[in-house]
Amino acid sequence: MSVKQPRGARPALPGTPKLDEADIEQMIRVDHAGEFGALCIYEGQLAVLERNSAASTNVDAIKRMAEQERTHFAAFERMVKDRAVRPTALEPLWHAAGYALGAATALMGEKAALACTVAVEDVIDDHYAKQIERLGNTDPELRETVAKFHRDEIEHRDEALARGAREAPGYPLLAAAIRLSCRIAISLSERI
Ligand SMILES: [Fe+2]
Ligand SMILES: [Fe+2]
Repeated sequence: MSVKQPRGARPALPGTPKLDEADIEQMIRVDHAGEFGALCIYEGQLAVLERNSAASTNVDAIKRMAEQERTHFAAFERMVKDRAVRPTALEPLWHAAGYALGAATALMGEKAALACTVAVEDVIDDHYAKQIERLGNTDPELRETVAKFHRDEIEHRDEALARGAREAPGYPLLAAAIRLSCRIAISLSERI
């Protein structure tokens, strides 16, 4: 019995896990939503930090991360269009929630903004690692995209940690709350 290939995807190599079109669409939908959410978080942070802070290397780092998130989002935006994937219906919610999370953490200070990055990237690291494993040799375009962005997200987390994210007030609780919110957002975006 043959497995239906996802639209626009190259055929799977032998020995790869069987993923159907719906699985691939779900992956693209959630990644597109996640990169959009990440961009909104950074926009919320920068709106506050650029107004409140004096020039700072932390703010410069956040700007660089935001630029990378913009390229991540653009790549999934292209994939959603090329493959006619339905985007999540929750985009307006992620826009508002992401921006609010970014602004709220930035209002707590630069270290809290960086703690937000660590928490988000922890969840994304896990999410992308599982996706790469699940994809195996299926859909090399998607796999390579996810693998590249996975490396970028780990760099964001490492840089935020090196810049003192753990010194944020209430770090363990703050990070746990953000991780939980991200996991809920991922699970909802896969389905809705
Ligand atoms: Fe990203
Ligand atoms: Fe990131």
